[in-house]
Amino acid sequence: MNFHKICIMGLGYIGLPTASTFATHGLKVLGVDINPTVINTLGTGEIHIHEPGLREVVARAIRSGNFSVSTQPEEADAFIIAVPTPFREDAQGKYNGRKYKLADMRAVISATEAILPHLRKGNLVVLESTSPPRTTVELVKPILEKSGLKAGVDFHLCYSPERVLPGQIMRELIENDRVIGGITPKSAKAGRDLYEIFVKGEIIETDATTAEMVKLMENTTRDVNIAIANEFSRLAEKFGVDVWEAISLANRHPRINILSPGPGVGGHCISVDPWFLVEAAPDLTSLIHHARQVNDAQPHFVVEKVKQAFIALSGVAPEAPRSRSAAAESILKNKKIAALGLAYKPDVDDLRESPATEVVHLLQKEGAQVSVWEPFKPDADVKGGDMASSLDAALKNADAILLLVKHTEFINFKPDEIASKTKARILIDCVNGWDKQQWEKAGFQLFRLGVNKSPIL
Ligand SMILES: NC(=O)c1ccc[n+]([C@@H]2O[C@H](COP(=O)([O-])OP(=O)(O)OC[C@H]3O[C@@H](n4cnc5c(N)ncnc54)[C@H](O)[C@@H]3O)[C@@H](O)[C@H]2O)c1
Repeated sequence: MNFHKICIMGLGYIGLPTASTFATHGLKVLGVDINPTVINTLGTGEIHIHEPGLREVVARAIRSGNFSVSTQPEEADAFIIAVPTPFREDAQGKYNGRKYKLADMRAVISATEAILPHLRKGNLVVLESTSPPRTTVELVKPILEKSGLKAGVDFHLCYSPERVLPGQIMRELIENDRVIGGITPKSAKAGRDLYEIFVKGEIIETDATTAEMVKLMENTTRDVNIAIANEFSRLAEKFGVDVWEAISLANRHPRINILSPGPGVGGHCISVDPWFLVEAAPDLTSLIHHARQVNDAQPHFVVEKVKQAFIALSGVAPEAPRSRSAAAESILKNKKIAALGLAYKPDVDDLRESPATEVVHLLQKEGAQVSVWEPFKPDADVKGGDMASSLDAALKNADAILLLVKHTEFINFKPDEIASKTKARILIDCVNGWDKQQWEKAGFQLFRLGVNKSPIL
């Protein structure tokens, strides 16, 4: 199939890189977004998201004359849907007493409905949004068939999961292998014809529901693997072990690859997508459900860690659990904590579902005064904390420094320099970002998540 013009619905972290890449490979691209701010920003040649290399590709796409933006779709040879699929805030499901989150598919529905008046015989429609199993055939197809055209006969319909790594999107978009699931083999072939325009990785054709499952299985596997690493961090603290050392030793086994624990799991994908499987089959997903709960509870574990650090310094004997928990009730009240990082992972500006924001919120509920520094989003709106205007401002009056995200610039801090900017001498490192010896030499006491010298027996 040949393509001259395509229309991309949703110009976020996925849609904008995809649209600009197609445009720089010679296609006429209309990028559509319902958010007028996005359209206005792109209209002035600016971009609204931080992603390395994106600005240059968008600028080239605009200069080529191939890329335009609008709040409304138009007729095109192909339509790609890359709109958000978060979970619903207003409702939950329940199975056997276990609550689970529900997919919010409203954006997919409205984007598909917006395409409907422009759908013509011979078109290709591709859903890229991560979606519950059978969304393509049971949700998108019936909407498009309201046009009177038959999917798989009059127009092609595919699901193609996006598997790029934020921070590496521009490279991975082109180099990663791409799975294309058609509702018929001919649809999958049409999808291949489209993505072949720029994809250098292997393109693998399959059916639409398999392609949906592939994406959900990938993210669910990571979620479950992080959950076990997080549980290991709790066990290590109980038994007086350094979890980071234990993991690095365990990973010397040729068939073991334990992931890193941390303050939880965030982002638009890994903390959301497993719920799509739970919702689709709550009776078959007890492990997946439990892993979600473990990861969602990890910010509470971080707050306990912060309390323990203050208790350790206040002289309450660490081996006396009762007095420790009694002291813990108020130990954070009015404590000034500099929280470093809010993003859900290193070196990105994406705060969606970030466990760091939850940690800040929980600390504030305990009475702490939290000053937050997020270099990738200094103007973020954070529930329960104040955004500092600079790193120095965050550190200035702090009693303790909490490292929540492994941003490169945080890892490269020089301990002596930081010591001169703050009176804080307590560090709580949730991501194994700082070297104990170096920081102790500069006068700090370092507490690391998953490390406890005194077993809690
Ligand atoms: N961000 C990632 O790293 C990533 C990776 C793989 C898959 N995904 C999936 O891709 C999809 C898009 O994610 P994203 O990160 O690009 O989201 P995003 O929030 O960054 O961008 C989505 C854009 O779609 C726009 N939008 C919402 N409803 C619309 C509509 N009806 N018509 C047109 N535009 C609409 C929004 O205004 C927004 O600008 C999601 O399903 C996500 O799970 C994301």
